[in-house]
Parts: sequence; structure tokens; C-alpha cells
Amino acid sequence: MSTRAKHDEPATDVPRHIAVIMDGNGRWARKRLMPRVAGHRKGVEALRGVIRACAERGVSHLTVFAFSSENWRRPQEEVTLLMELFLRALENEVARLHENRIRFRVIGDLSGFSERIQTLIRDAETLTRDNTRLTLTVAANYGGRWDIVQAVKKLMLSGVAPGAVNETTLAEQLSLADMPEPDLFIRTGGEQRISNFLLWQLAYTELYFTDTLWPDFDAAALDAAIASYRKRERRFGRTSEQVRAAQSAEGA
Ligand code: IPE
Ligand code: IPE
Ligand code: MG
Repeated sequence: MSTRAKHDEPATDVPRHIAVIMDGNGRWARKRLMPRVAGHRKGVEALRGVIRACAERGVSHLTVFAFSSENWRRPQEEVTLLMELFLRALENEVARLHENRIRFRVIGDLSGFSERIQTLIRDAETLTRDNTRLTLTVAANYGGRWDIVQAVKKLMLSGVAPGAVNETTLAEQLSLADMPEPDLFIRTGGEQRISNFLLWQLAYTELYFTDTLWPDFDAAALDAAIASYRKRERRFGRTSEQVRAAQSAEGA
């Protein structure tokens, strides 16, 4: 078994995997004296643009937080409208994703959703499973703590001996097990917190926070985030001198 951790790989100029907390829809709407759901609708449009921009820039994985396990605490009316929006997006957007060779996946506790939504998710995942241009993963009824707990449960059900539990075997049971860990995390809307998104997987991700509200986040805003990422030095615990020596050896 390799001792090399999944995140411990040379960074490329373009992040392979971008994880996004799409926040600020409600405030975007309120600023315009519109109902919060108008912000969520605009948020779906913004996501469409960011998916396209990621595909054009050669990003291979985009993971977006659409609905957290805590978002059920919102007013019933907003939850209902968000579910309708999710349903409509599944009905209307999947064909276009497939045409663009995008693989679609959902992570989270799907049992919280209606049968109709669960069926559409399964069908969309099956339809797009062989697409390789970009993998779009939507986190819905997702929580980072839930993810770790469900991974532990799966491990225990497999009958694994305690001595065989390590970071690799646990990570293999997590929701994004088959993907590189996120290189870049973006949160729009001005808050600087993780809000129970990918807890394990963000261990070595570069974090980027912007005040831009999600409905306003466009390709130029994405480029600004990627430009910030490219200026970072990813050391993974090493010294700067070690990192630079390894880079010049690679370039030689
Ligand atoms: C993010 O926008 C979308 C969801 C959480 C579904 P918000 O709805 O949290 O927008 P703000 O933070 O209230 O502006
Ligand atoms: C996080 O946003 C979840 C999503 C964007 C889906 P929230 O707006 O729900 O996060 P908090 O409550 O401000 O931390
Ligand atoms: Mg919010």
C-alpha cells in the first residue's frame, strides 16, 4: 500500500478539483427587494456559468454545496421552494450536462429527499457515468460529519480489524473517495467558515473567500480565485526550500 497521501501530489497551475460553498443567494435577493427564492434561481444560473468555465479551463472536478444537512432548519416555505428548484434543475439541466460530456453525481444522505428526486438523481448518475470532461458533484443533504460517520459505519460493517483502520482505509469509504482531494476551496458571500462542508477532504486545500454573492460569481470571479490559488505555495508540511528544490528537480 502506498504511503503517499492523496493530497501529496504536485500541484498543477489549474486546480484539478475545486470545491465551492455557493453562499449569498438570500442577500442577493434581499438587496433587490426580491424573495429569497429569486436569489436561489439566480444561483442556478451562476452555477451553469461556473460549470462551463471550469470545463473550458480544464478543471476536472467541481464539487458544489447546494443544501447542507443543517439547511432543513430554514423556514418550511424556503425548504419547499429549494426542493422544487432542485427537482426542476434535475429535470431540465441533466441532458445539457450529458451533451457537454459532464459526469453528474450527488453526495449526501439522499434518503432525505422525495422518491421523485432520488430517482432523477440515480438516472442522471447512470446516464452520465462514462463522461470524463468534468465531474460535477452536488452536495445535497450533505454534512462533513455525516460523511465521516457513514464511512466509519461502512468500515465496521465490512468487518475490518481495528488494526487495519488507517487514513487510507477510512478515506476509501468517504463520499469523494475516487477523486483527488480539492485543490481550491471557494466560499462566496463573505462568511469565512466551512459550515460542515467537506471536513476530511479539505485538510490541505487552499482556502479562498470572497465577498461576491453567489449569483454574481462569474467566469471572471472564478479566474480571480484561480489566480490567487496559483500564487500559493503548497508545502504539505515541508519547508519552502524543499518544495522549490523538488520543483526544480522536476523541471530539470
Ligand atoms: C446559499 O445562499 C444557498 C443555500 C444555502 C441553499 P443562502 O440562502 O445561504 O444566502 P444568504 O447567506 O442567506 O445570503
Ligand atoms: C452553507 O451555507 C450551505 C450551502 C451553501 C448550501 P449556509 O448559508 O447555510 O451556511 P451558514 O448557516 O451561514 O453557516
Ligand atoms: Mg448563507
